[in-house]
Amino acid sequence: MRELEEKIRKDGTVIGTDILKVNNFLNHQLDVELFQKMGAEWYRLFEKDNVNKILTIESSGIALATIAATYFHCPVVFAKKNRGSNLPEDVYFATVTSFTHQNTYQAIVSKDYLSPSDRILLIDDFLARGAALKGLISIVREAQATIVGAGIAIEKSFQPGRKSIEEEGIRIESLARIQSMNEKEITFLS
Ligand code: G4P
Repeated sequence: MRELEEKIRKDGTVIGTDILKVNNFLNHQLDVELFQKMGAEWYRLFEKDNVNKILTIESSGIALATIAATYFHCPVVFAKKNRGSNLPEDVYFATVTSFTHQNTYQAIVSKDYLSPSDRILLIDDFLARGAALKGLISIVREAQATIVGAGIAIEKSFQPGRKSIEEEGIRIESLARIQSMNEKEITFLS
């Protein structure tokens, strides 16, 4: 998506060679009009897939998923991150170890909000190594719901997330795919 790529070039900051800071429009301050265009694009890509629920994970996925849901006219469920040792009752959960954040948590979703008849679109802000997305996939599978695909804002294509998610048979639609980056230049896959 050209507009997102331009925004990343204009407002993103590359740290080293593998972290992109986008606090200015995605992870702290939110560019809501850009989010609306992103939601419209995911809708164009998935409109024939009878999505009836969007699943994301706190925190940055929530705003993107919420705006996307206004196009799909469906509810959003977000997985909560549980860092304590006790699990709440009646939840689906997956243990996620984030390489980027160097932490481990359990992603949890109440059993009340997923059912086998659901057709789920996964939404998240970044696809890096794909740990968070894999957690969501395992939760949806445990609930025996259907995953129609994953809508990602920014994919770091030089990291292994896409490959490992595609190996699970999941369709991925990333709105910006970064082939490589450094402090001077960001190159996108077309
Ligand atoms: P990984 O950590 O194992 O590489 O995989 P994953 O693809 O699951 O990414 C984990 C978290 O790290 C995600 O945050 C993702 O948004 C964030 N992340 C990964 N790479 C980058 C990056 O280059 N820039 C930024 N800004 N974030 C990145 P999350 O768990 O969804 O948490 P939250 O940040 O939304 O609270």
